[in-house]
Amino acid sequence: MKEQLEKIKEEALKQIEASDALEKLNEIRVAYLGKKGQLTSVLKGMKDVAPEDRPKVGQMVNEARELIEAKLEETKTALAKKAREEQMKKEVIDVTLPAKKNRIGHSHPNTVALEEVERIFIGMGYEVVEGPEVEYDEYNFEKLNIPANHPAKDEQDTFYINKEILLRTQTSSCQAREMEKGKLPIRMISPGRVFRSDEVDATHSPSFHQIEGLVIDKNITFADLKGTLAEFSRELFGPETKVKFRPHHFPFTEPSAEVDVSCFKCGGKGCRFCKGSGWIEILGCGMVHPHVLEMCGIDPNEYTGFAFGVGLERIALLKYEIDDMRLLYENDIRFLKQF
Ligand code: DAH
Repeated sequence: MKEQLEKIKEEALKQIEASDALEKLNEIRVAYLGKKGQLTSVLKGMKDVAPEDRPKVGQMVNEARELIEAKLEETKTALAKKAREEQMKKEVIDVTLPAKKNRIGHSHPNTVALEEVERIFIGMGYEVVEGPEVEYDEYNFEKLNIPANHPAKDEQDTFYINKEILLRTQTSSCQAREMEKGKLPIRMISPGRVFRSDEVDATHSPSFHQIEGLVIDKNITFADLKGTLAEFSRELFGPETKVKFRPHHFPFTEPSAEVDVSCFKCGGKGCRFCKGSGWIEILGCGMVHPHVLEMCGIDPNEYTGFAFGVGLERIALLKYEIDDMRLLYENDIRFLKQF
């Protein structure tokens, strides 16, 4: 019995020593110490041992088991350590390699221009509000004095969801929404995306952006409108900029005007940039039509106001001297990085 135990012990220790993987150690554990393992079967053979020898044999079996277990544990730790060291060697970081380029994007010229416009108007005490791109005909047309069958609807054909709901053609829809809230006075700008069923070319896109402006208060006059837009133009295009108000027609303002700024390239002398005229058209504006005020729940005898609408792309194209609007929608980082 003693010899048999010695043999088992020696054999187990030899096998453990020769193992080079954790799975092998497990196999050895099962083969010797498991339910059907060799040491266990020695215990099972106890009944053939003389009763007076049993404690001794039992003790020997236990000693053998402890020894094998300790050796298994020790080898397991050593193997794990070796595996970790090998892994560390494999994963070593070569700090002399060139770093991976972290390619971050760049603000879009539209965004840069919008932030500039927002900065100017916030500086004059305006609030920035937003309205929905999918809009009711009521806000986009009806409440802006553009009833069904009005010819202005033809110029601003758009994508209809159904008869009453459409993709807004102008941020002017936010005027009606803001006035309806009933909180006066109003001093807001509202930037956002608008849609028209236009063909793509160097100056048109079926989807572009506008910034709407609206001021409603007591005693607002055309002088306020002129002063505000002149100040805005000087901030945006430089302190020498002059403004010109040309009479125009918009259904929701009366009187209405289009605003030109003196060409910031040639100072008004006339160049290729302003097509020789010395002026560049930048926006539409006017005094809010009394009927519009009424439709939006404001008493036109008590309150007056002015409104304006700027094309954001137009500002970006002018300011950064980009000659094709399509470049703004390609999002080529090499292009965007220049602004
Ligand atoms: N919504 C007009 C357009 O898309 C621009 C405009 C003109 C807005 C006059 C205004 C305004 O607020 O008063 O052509």
